[in-house]
Amino acid sequence: MTFNALKEKGLSLEKQVRTWHDIAHRKYNKNEVNCYSRTRQILMNGIEVEAWNFKHNFARVCQDEDTLEFLAQTKRIEDAQQTTINWLAPCDQSVLETTLGYEQVAVDLTAWMAQNEPDPYVKETFDFGLLEDFDHLYRYSQWAYMIHGITPNAVVQGQTDVILGRPTQNHHNCNIIRLRKHYDKATASAQTKVNILTLVAGEQQTHNYYGEHGFAYGSELLRETYAEIKDVEEEHVTMYESLIDPSESFYEKLLMHEFTEVCTYHNCMTDEKDEMLMPIWEEFLAIELNHLQTAAKLFKKYEKRDPEEVIGEDIVHPCHFTSQKDYVEKVLRAEIDKRLGSNKDYQYVKDIPDDWASYEVQKAVGKDGSPSEVTIRVIAEQKNRDLVCASEELTNDLPKLAKKAMQKDGMTCDTVTPEEYEKMSKEKFEL
Ligand SMILES: [Fe+2]
Ligand SMILES: [Fe+2]
Ligand SMILES: [Fe+2]
Ligand SMILES: [Fe+2]
Repeated sequence: MTFNALKEKGLSLEKQVRTWHDIAHRKYNKNEVNCYSRTRQILMNGIEVEAWNFKHNFARVCQDEDTLEFLAQTKRIEDAQQTTINWLAPCDQSVLETTLGYEQVAVDLTAWMAQNEPDPYVKETFDFGLLEDFDHLYRYSQWAYMIHGITPNAVVQGQTDVILGRPTQNHHNCNIIRLRKHYDKATASAQTKVNILTLVAGEQQTHNYYGEHGFAYGSELLRETYAEIKDVEEEHVTMYESLIDPSESFYEKLLMHEFTEVCTYHNCMTDEKDEMLMPIWEEFLAIELNHLQTAAKLFKKYEKRDPEEVIGEDIVHPCHFTSQKDYVEKVLRAEIDKRLGSNKDYQYVKDIPDDWASYEVQKAVGKDGSPSEVTIRVIAEQKNRDLVCASEELTNDLPKLAKKAMQKDGMTCDTVTPEEYEKMSKEKFEL
């Protein structure tokens, strides 16, 4: 059944203003919530932050009174939606537990999108980013155990593997080569545009979360690990946003933002089982339908084009959360040694030239070592080995994967070597 977002009935603007109680009173139980309800909550917070932020940016360059009025009224609504969603997280959910949730979002969302992405180059970029967030989940999981004594499954509930990915110390690139080729707005599908905007919003909020919370722990090494991974999220925002056609006007971008909100809420509503969360997704979808329809009128008026040309006549589902272990393992085995190429392409470590621009960056930031590597050394010191949650076969292949991921240059003095992983693999994690 098609769902034409331009024709479905939304909630009128007057009814979108909510009380403080309604805005702030709901929160989930961290021990009972389904991990994918939590990933929806984390993602939709990022979607609302982006919606709000974009509207302020538009307002700062906009001279049209009608548009300014629409932006002024709806910025407040987006902001109140953000409060409701972000504050669903209970106060006893620690920063590290929330962090594991953020990385689970990144892994399972990117894997879903990669398999539903019609543009092969965009898909390749999703697969590339996927293995980096996958490694972040592994590094932070060590910390969640060391600081709070929880295994990652307390958060990811066995749905997402926790094991070495492309090592974080190799995620640091020259930001110029992070830039990718952008799609062509005239030919790219609505699915591609919504996928990218959803992921940009998610990555941006992950970056913001680490920036706002990475200092929450006293451990110097954990602070540095947050700083290191936060910087990778900065690279991720740069990479994914560069896929967007820069010639899209602000009105086209406004249309895409509202459409992305409609699609993501519709997707949440379709998948949700949680009785407290369900009415939120339903109500917020109705709000976004109204925003979208006004944005479509403004687009028509100022662009003199049909909004259907951009968003089509049906919605897309960018964020169906489900276990992606098989897919991620396949990409991991094939692409752990993949790196960014200098011509907006990709290459494997064996083909990296000696003058690769990212070597300079890796040497500069890693001069004193890499906190994400030291993390593994510290947990191995305490518990005989690293904490891994994956199938026996994949766990046994960890030293082989570590070997495959090795670069010729740009490795820090702390690098856990394949031989050390081999040694650890013979040990049992001491519970
Ligand atoms: Fe919104
Ligand atoms: Fe990440
Ligand atoms: Fe990321
Ligand atoms: Fe909106």
